[in-house]
Amino acid sequence: FGDNMESHFVVPRRLRDKPYELIEAANDWHYAMMNDLPRNEFYRSALRQLITPESFVLEIGAGSGLLSIIAASLGARRVVAIEANMHLANVARQIIHANGYGDRIHIINKMSTDVSPEELAQYGGRPTLLLSEILGTLLLGESALHYVADARRRLLGPGGAVVPPRGAQFATLVESFDIASITSVKLPPGISLDYFNSLQDTTSMVFTKQYGFRFSSAAYTELAPRTPVLAIDFSADEVGVWGGESRTTLRATRAGTVHAVMASWEVYAGEADALCMATHPDATLGNFPRDMQWGQGLQLIE
Ligand SMILES: C[S@@+](CC[C@H](N)C(=O)[O-])C[C@H]1O[C@@H](n2cnc3c(N)ncnc32)[C@H](O)[C@@H]1O
Repeated sequence: FGDNMESHFVVPRRLRDKPYELIEAANDWHYAMMNDLPRNEFYRSALRQLITPESFVLEIGAGSGLLSIIAASLGARRVVAIEANMHLANVARQIIHANGYGDRIHIINKMSTDVSPEELAQYGGRPTLLLSEILGTLLLGESALHYVADARRRLLGPGGAVVPPRGAQFATLVESFDIASITSVKLPPGISLDYFNSLQDTTSMVFTKQYGFRFSSAAYTELAPRTPVLAIDFSADEVGVWGGESRTTLRATRAGTVHAVMASWEVYAGEADALCMATHPDATLGNFPRDMQWGQGLQLIE
């Protein structure tokens, strides 16, 4: 990390020899993610309902090792966590040892797609539970279904559980003059800047995190009910089963100006899907870390 900094920056001794990528991963999103306590509780509650002393948990994406430690603390006999990032894998190993789980949690530093069933067999048979938190600002934005379906098919034992098992992507029509004020220009009469509005990007899906604001801190009105546009069954769906595109019509149910479509998601777990973790701004109002880590997606509308 020190080598990446110009000499007039003060780099604390503890950071000097650390990999730049690791410091970035920790500071950019890891702290916020780990401090999303309802997120951690969602996983703890879901795992508590499934883990027995016979459980062999396979996690995709160990990060700090947090969810694997939760799984082990709930009594799983064996946890194997796969982590692609070499530096995070080393940190996870240290944290797991420091917490006294070195004998029950093992880290494999690979992409999950490169791990073979034979490699897992040395830890005692086939996994009985597949655990992952590789969700993005968009539900499948970080290829969650791709990796979960692959591991489920090749690595998970027959009848194994998947956590979280289900999720849904939502779209909501919103009016927000606050959002309009940072994505278009409208000044009082005098100087016309209207031509500038012909440059507005209504193509890209932009994340609130990139703009640097919390949706719940902007004034906005939902002009239509939140609408599911994609339902995912992580325990059964395959990648590429949709031959073509699917279209959902969003119809405003109250008068106003639609400035954007807001994208948010929910994932479900537990009996009758009673556990829910969501990214809608009404669900994240009291959860600053979740808003800063996942936030929501915005597609501007002309
Ligand atoms: C969102 S973090 C979650 C970390 C930790 N499980 C937690 O919940 O606190 C996801 C981690 O998964 C890793 N990852 C994502 N996809 C992966 C894959 N297919 N194989 C291995 N690691 C993966 C990333 O490098 C990242 O460290």
